[in-house]
Amino acid sequence: MLIGEDKRIKAVIRRLGRDVLVAESFQSEVNYIQHGEIDCYEHSLAVAYMSVYLAKKFRLRLDLRSVVRGALLHDYFLYDWHDDEAWHRLHGYHHARTALITACKDFPMNRTEKQIIFRHMFPLNITRFPNCKEAALVCMADKICATMETIRRSKYDPILYQGLRLPIEKPMKTLDGRRPSILRRDELCHMQAQER
Ligand SMILES: [Fe+2]
Ligand SMILES: [Fe+2]
Repeated sequence: MLIGEDKRIKAVIRRLGRDVLVAESFQSEVNYIQHGEIDCYEHSLAVAYMSVYLAKKFRLRLDLRSVVRGALLHDYFLYDWHDDEAWHRLHGYHHARTALITACKDFPMNRTEKQIIFRHMFPLNITRFPNCKEAALVCMADKICATMETIRRSKYDPILYQGLRLPIEKPMKTLDGRRPSILRRDELCHMQAQER
């Protein structure tokens, strides 16, 4: 399977994840390396693609909109964890929470989308077992893509971008002026309590 070859899968991602795809802040993930040559932007597109592919292949009945948006934003931490800073050494353990908080500042997020992001690093985050079908699916798609990226160590075929790299409609500076979805303090505490 060539990631990005199925236009129907990309049409689903475009329809359900449009507000994310047209945000400059999301496209800025191209500046942050994920694995080897792969940047966070193409990694996130690939995980969204793989998630929809698996959902369709196994005819899963789930909230596909949340799957697409959660997958696109699952690594929305917006820093380069390869920079030589002490706190980056624990990136693997902490970035899911950082991505969740950053995503909630910039996009309206429902509960399922938050769970997808918060729990995608299971089993490294051993206490964050995916607690819904959508979170389990994206967690699995992320592992598949990360494994492929680590083995191949080369960029995805450019076909992945076709139809998904949309013109920017939400420049970064206007994101600050929009009303963000507030991650309610009690909701974060609730998620942390579930970890224990
Ligand atoms: Fe991640
Ligand atoms: Fe990831």
